[in-house]
Amino acid sequence: MSILIKGGTVVTAETETRADVLIQSGLITAVGTGLDVPAGTEVIEAGGCYVMPGGIDPHTHMQLPFMGTVASEDFYTGTAAAMAGGTTTIIDFVIPSPKQSLMEAYHTWRGWAEKSASDYSFHVAVTWWDQTVHDDMGTLVRDHGVNSFKHFMAYKNAIMADDEILYNSFSRALELGAIPTVHAENGELVFQLQKKLVAEGITGPEGHPLSRPPEAEGEAANRAIRLAEVIGVPVYLVHVSAEQALQEIIRARSEGHRVFGEVLAGHLLIDDSVYRHPDWDYAAAHVMSPPFRAPHHQAALWKGLQAGHLQTTATDHCCFCTEQKRMGLDSFAKIPNGTGGVEDRMTVLWTHGVRTGRLTPSEFVAVTSANAARIFNIYPRKGAVQVGADADVVVWDPAASKTISAKTHHQKVDTNIFEGMTVTGLPVVTLSRGVVTWKDGDLRAVAGAGRYIDRPAFAPMFGAVQKAAELRRPTAVPR
Ligand code: URP
Ligand code: ZN
Ligand code: ZN
Ligand code: ZN
Repeated sequence: MSILIKGGTVVTAETETRADVLIQSGLITAVGTGLDVPAGTEVIEAGGCYVMPGGIDPHTHMQLPFMGTVASEDFYTGTAAAMAGGTTTIIDFVIPSPKQSLMEAYHTWRGWAEKSASDYSFHVAVTWWDQTVHDDMGTLVRDHGVNSFKHFMAYKNAIMADDEILYNSFSRALELGAIPTVHAENGELVFQLQKKLVAEGITGPEGHPLSRPPEAEGEAANRAIRLAEVIGVPVYLVHVSAEQALQEIIRARSEGHRVFGEVLAGHLLIDDSVYRHPDWDYAAAHVMSPPFRAPHHQAALWKGLQAGHLQTTATDHCCFCTEQKRMGLDSFAKIPNGTGGVEDRMTVLWTHGVRTGRLTPSEFVAVTSANAARIFNIYPRKGAVQVGADADVVVWDPAASKTISAKTHHQKVDTNIFEGMTVTGLPVVTLSRGVVTWKDGDLRAVAGAGRYIDRPAFAPMFGAVQKAAELRRPTAVPR
């Protein structure tokens, strides 16, 4: 089975070139012009289109059990929707309950994910600490292809990691050559503000952003980054939504620390006015953490992305339907936190990034796939159109247009945070390891076709991290 993608402009994070792409047995085997093509090769015409690496969404939560319910999107429906939007790999999260064995949770999530239509991988959350957690982190890294661990600094009395857990887990991650990631919000402050607001009679969704101010994110971002600096480990901040957190990243990077930031399509485009909408269901549909922010934060996030202070884009795809959101009718603190977007991220980023001149097509590739692949050490198998890479490829028509709506999207949720947004620039063909899974509006995703992606430890940055650690190793004074 071979496929030739013909006549397009191949875009990588580095270059834009007119070239054809030959795909054989799930891999890219040639990129260039005048290629030697085997008889019987299927041809996909890509004239006028860009040919880019399939997107990597490094932050999704398919069928997550959370806040008393389970996210509506499962690993099949979610990865299928992703491919309708040009995303061919997700990195989801194993989230053990406190005291649950990491290995048990990991195998549970692996079982759920067997029906994935696209390739997938897992960050594993560290929500508690003892010797078994320490040991399981080693097993996950050595034997199970995990090279990143997640820490929730929010969600007190549930999965929140305190400073002791952060210290222990970050230190262990460094030993293992794995990267710690954090959800940065001061969970104690959020908890206290939630109680205060409800006591004052603010029980609707407008209480959600009030209980999670940007300062709470800035404080936690600073704390996580400072801990990582002292320990000497790189750190990755998920869903950076506030200028205060971005400033901490900029400060740390300008001082030479390996700190990475992810921004969600939603945080770039949606502001906090949604929480004051008179329709409770509409407002609740936007409840996610950190919340959507005042418009000046969006402007700062766009600049952060353009400047390279933020390296990746994600969605935090975590869908709850209207009925599920209504669990919080009497208190915003009980509204399941999460919003979708795995299908929409690429086109929203193209429309508001490339079409506004904020990003070049190569920069678009960097922030939608290549940078995530590098940070999480699957580059160039993923995130590149080059010989030897997995044939996860999207043929992108920059002139194609649609209006996003929950009525027509493929995501398994009854609302869409981008509802009514007209976007231009869409995938016309998506290939997952050489198989066409989306073509001209026809979704051909197959349950179980996706593969688990092992991510090796000690990404190239760890070479530098270890050299730096060697040079600053403390010494005792000989007396
Ligand atoms: O509101 C959100 N983001 N829900 C999913 C869990 C998380 O914090 O990422
Ligand atoms: Zn195992
Ligand atoms: Zn989070
Ligand atoms: Zn999340």
